[in-house]
Amino acid sequence: VTVGVVVAAAGQGKRMRKGFNKQFIQLGDRPILMHTLQAFEHMSFVEQIVVVTSAGDIAKCEALCRSYNVRKVTDVVAGGKTRQDSVRIGLNKVRTDWVLVHDGARPFVSEEMVNELLESAQRHGAAVLGVPVKDTIKKVNVDGIIEETPERQSMWAVQTPQAFRLTELKRAHAQAREEELAATDDAMLMEHLGFDVRIVRGDYYNIKITTPEDLWFAESILQHMRKMGDR
Ligand code: CTP
Ligand code: MG
Repeated sequence: VTVGVVVAAAGQGKRMRKGFNKQFIQLGDRPILMHTLQAFEHMSFVEQIVVVTSAGDIAKCEALCRSYNVRKVTDVVAGGKTRQDSVRIGLNKVRTDWVLVHDGARPFVSEEMVNELLESAQRHGAAVLGVPVKDTIKKVNVDGIIEETPERQSMWAVQTPQAFRLTELKRAHAQAREEELAATDDAMLMEHLGFDVRIVRGDYYNIKITTPEDLWFAESILQHMRKMGDR
């Protein structure tokens, strides 16, 4: 079987409030996106990487891939308005049987986790990484009033990568587009088609860099990984 990756990196990073795409923020000695791409570059089973970025950042992205020697990137394409649009566009360039969909803003994806993820996906059909939530989650209405408290034991924070058969994920995206279903992750589209999606326990290091304070956490995680020889 062959495995490809779509890296979604076409967002605006509004919550980061930097005024440019957060994927290009320097983390340690390189931009966030280069940490992410190099992680997949070093996974032997990954054959192809498709990067989705904004139209204005394509040239910059290609240049970065060259200077950081990321060779598995076959295509750098312009994304869409939403993450869902960006992933759908990226999927058109994938030529592998299996596809991992990953956020460019998650630089700490580990090979060990991806191995477990793929094993589960290939056994059960579809799988995503996630971690049990630590905080109690409340459903809150627009007036700020708590409506519901789901049992914490059954709540997971879902991460990426998420692993699917390419043909099935493409079908899920096409169907969602037809039905104008908006989803914040790819699993949701597959769930909508009635697929069982497995959750594989990942780790708490695999954060999505989203708000300014995440940069502090990210620097610490990077230092920790360097000390452990993982980066
Ligand atoms: N993404 C994308 N295309 C979009 C929107 C998001 O490829 N139209 C990507 C982002 O670049 C990011 C990932 O999806 O790597 C997860 O999204 P998020 O963390 O929300 O990033 P942004 O949308 O950039 O940030 P914000 O929501 O704060 O603007
Ligand atoms: Mg966003």
